Amino acid sequence: MRTDTGQVFKLEDYRPSDYLIPATSLDFRLSPDATHVTALLTIERREGVAATAPLVLEGDGLTLLGVAIDGHALAAGDYEATPDRLMILKPPAQRFELRLETEIAPSRNEALMGLYRSNNVYCTQCEAEGFRRITYFLDRPDILSVYTVRVEAPHNEAPLLLSNGNPVERGALANGRHYAVWHDPFPKPSYLFALVAGALGKVAGSFTTMSGREVELGIYVEPGKERLAGYAMDALKRSMKWDEDAFGREYDLDVFNIVAVSDFNMGAMENKGLNVFNDKYVLADEETATDADFANIEAIIAHEYFHNWTGNRITCRDWFQLCLKEGLTVYRDHEFSADQRSRAVKRIAEVRTLRAHQFPEDQGPLAHPVRPRRYREINNFYTATVYEKGSEVVRMICTILGPEAFRAGMDLYFERHDGEAATIEDFLKVFEDVSGRDLAQFALWYHQAGTPNLTVSSAHNAAAREFTLEIEQSVPPTPSESRKRLMHIPLAFGLVGADGKPVTWTAVEGATVDDGIIHIRRRRHTVRFSGVSERPSVSLNRGFSAPITLSVQQKADDQFFLAAHDSDAFSRWQAFNTLLTDALIAAFRQILGGKQAVFAARLAELAGRIAGDEALEPAYRALALTLPGEADIARDIGKGIDPDAIFAAREALARTIAEANRDAFSALYDSLADKGPFSPDAASAGRRALRNTVLDYLSLLPGGASLAARHFNAASNMTDRAAALAVLALRHSGTAEAEEALAAFEARYRGDALVLDKWFQIQAGVPGERTVDKVRVLMRHPAFSIANPNRVRSLIGTFASANQTGFHRADGEGYRLFAETVLEVEKRNPQVAARLATALRSWRSLEPGRQAKAKQALLEMAQVENLSADLRDIVERTLA
Ligand code: PHE
Ligand code: ZN
Repeated sequence: MRTDTGQVFKLEDYRPSDYLIPATSLDFRLSPDATHVTALLTIERREGVAATAPLVLEGDGLTLLGVAIDGHALAAGDYEATPDRLMILKPPAQRFELRLETEIAPSRNEALMGLYRSNNVYCTQCEAEGFRRITYFLDRPDILSVYTVRVEAPHNEAPLLLSNGNPVERGALANGRHYAVWHDPFPKPSYLFALVAGALGKVAGSFTTMSGREVELGIYVEPGKERLAGYAMDALKRSMKWDEDAFGREYDLDVFNIVAVSDFNMGAMENKGLNVFNDKYVLADEETATDADFANIEAIIAHEYFHNWTGNRITCRDWFQLCLKEGLTVYRDHEFSADQRSRAVKRIAEVRTLRAHQFPEDQGPLAHPVRPRRYREINNFYTATVYEKGSEVVRMICTILGPEAFRAGMDLYFERHDGEAATIEDFLKVFEDVSGRDLAQFALWYHQAGTPNLTVSSAHNAAAREFTLEIEQSVPPTPSESRKRLMHIPLAFGLVGADGKPVTWTAVEGATVDDGIIHIRRRRHTVRFSGVSERPSVSLNRGFSAPITLSVQQKADDQFFLAAHDSDAFSRWQAFNTLLTDALIAAFRQILGGKQAVFAARLAELAGRIAGDEALEPAYRALALTLPGEADIARDIGKGIDPDAIFAAREALARTIAEANRDAFSALYDSLADKGPFSPDAASAGRRALRNTVLDYLSLLPGGASLAARHFNAASNMTDRAAALAVLALRHSGTAEAEEALAAFEARYRGDALVLDKWFQIQAGVPGERTVDKVRVLMRHPAFSIANPNRVRSLIGTFASANQTGFHRADGEGYRLFAETVLEVEKRNPQVAARLATALRSWRSLEPGRQAKAKQALLEMAQVENLSADLRDIVERTLA
């Protein structure tokens, strides 16, 4: 474990390395406890660097067995080696061959970075700084090298030997051993290196690229699970086709392989030609995976594939530029999913995710710009801000330029920077060059943290036939950025007439308005539309054109009107969701008094109309009927949070909606019953989503538990089974129906850890003060393992991040369990521990009693000696 050294890495300190490594040849002799690695590095001193400059390579916990230059072993005085660094004091020439021998122990690697074992399979994870756990190297993304890799192992232990690029050679050796050689012709940074070896089952496929080249596709899974990889293979082929159609990007190697492993720190990894996946994002069939799992698999397969151009062919100059590959690739996978499924539904889901994960990050102690300026541990910057907000920033570029200029900019980006390690400045420049626009103010989206807010009020002057919008922007202070500059915010909008049709105007002044977008650039804009005779309703931030918050002074009547009539599907959903949020906040504050019932009744009536509106897609209706989550409500309230009060407010509104729509919801529930064979397509998934959402409401009415139990028993797929189980466990905790269903689920999926994760997850989410004890009991369940990231995230992660009343139990017991567990996980896997620890980032918004207890838990973690760099960084920033 790398303990914290207090070192801070700064963007402004970037400088190119003195040496380059144009070629890297690696030879692995695999063995669980003592893998022997020989690295032959072609080293070149960069032009203009003094001949006396030492060569300094990074390592991490390495044992050096030998070092030679151009075939001659180095004398002790020629170099300095520690586990974390190798310094060649006087490199002999401008160009030379450095030979390094190291020994590593994959079986003891529980951090899951570098070369490790998962389920007896050897695999690697090198992003961001894992390659230095394999050999000493210039382990930074601007060092691009051509790799040749030879892997050798006993045939019976590892019949399959994979690395990046194309296969070159393979053969048998003495003593039952064998080897394979792989060559990747594309220079790449070390973080994209990968090796996999073991006994795995294969699903084969092929794809013909747009220029007619045949690519061999392989998905490797645990033997016996091959039939669960069919959907992933289909998603891969669709991704390859889509990138050709949408971006003109063709695949560039003869093979493309994906390996699913059961121990993985993140979702998946885009290693060149050899993606390694968390098996959760590969394995699926109707019996084991929900519709949400299918959608995630499709999106992540696409995401990693799309990295081949955005990340691999063009990589990042340094880790500060992480969003250059991640934000852009998320944008690309979002567009892919929108094209494969329903664009409106996809957009709503994206915005919900952004608000649930990125907004609290941006509004709390861990806030950072999309392109950070400093870090202590880069692992902690794989965040919703870099990924999700990074994607929104790319989307805004497309919104501002229009789709054609955007595509021209992307083409120029690929043409200009192929084979390079680029920066955000390079990326923005291509769009300036193709459009002639100045994106200097826009670039603040990359450089300035915080969620901008727009305050908007409107007025209509019937006599003057003038409609006016007063818009004011502000960006709240964030850590180490107390003063903010004004941003360029593309605000999509529409003026909606009483007939639901767009209202036109004859002239507009006060801001640049083009193509339905108001370009906000100053602190205040008074935007005057003339020739508007009738007072319109104003629909703002249509399609969520900018990742901002809005404070709109608007009458509830206008919101109800937009929730029923806005032609922009996103904004229509938003209007209803805002009404729900307002009602929930009002209930929380107990200020509605007699009016509360009226407002709730009106909402319930509209909910019924949306539920039954056949003109709307079922998936859309399901999203509209889903109440804002407890954490969403807490975020909008902002401070003094008492999760129990929020829970009560939400329950009450759900009941009101259920009671008001009892008959209609029952009829809808019956009419949506599954007919015909299962299909994971978006339309079928949408019908299941709507039916299960309606079930959730109906379960609140008398007889609800037995209805949910019938749904559970009749379920013919995991989506329905898991939904019913969640309804029973969360709404009817402790009832015989809930206990029976939990036991039946456990018995049915005993031995299938991935499916049991759902069972852990549902139980970790049960609201109320008893769940903390239940989580302690489940941690001793035979299927639970503190060493496996998926198990930890399902049980502990869900409890801490998705169970407001359970985790924030008033006596602080939830925080105690949490702190203990984070420290326990950290001993093995600092990266996963640090990510888990971010669950307390919003502690300052809690009411004083809970706030003090949460702080206590954080302080206890901070006081532990020798914390990992990962955890210390999170804990100290959270407390700062
Ligand atoms: N680069 C991976 C992705 O987003 C994420 C990842 C980061 C995986 C670090 C492992 C380690 O596609
Ligand atoms: Zn990515």
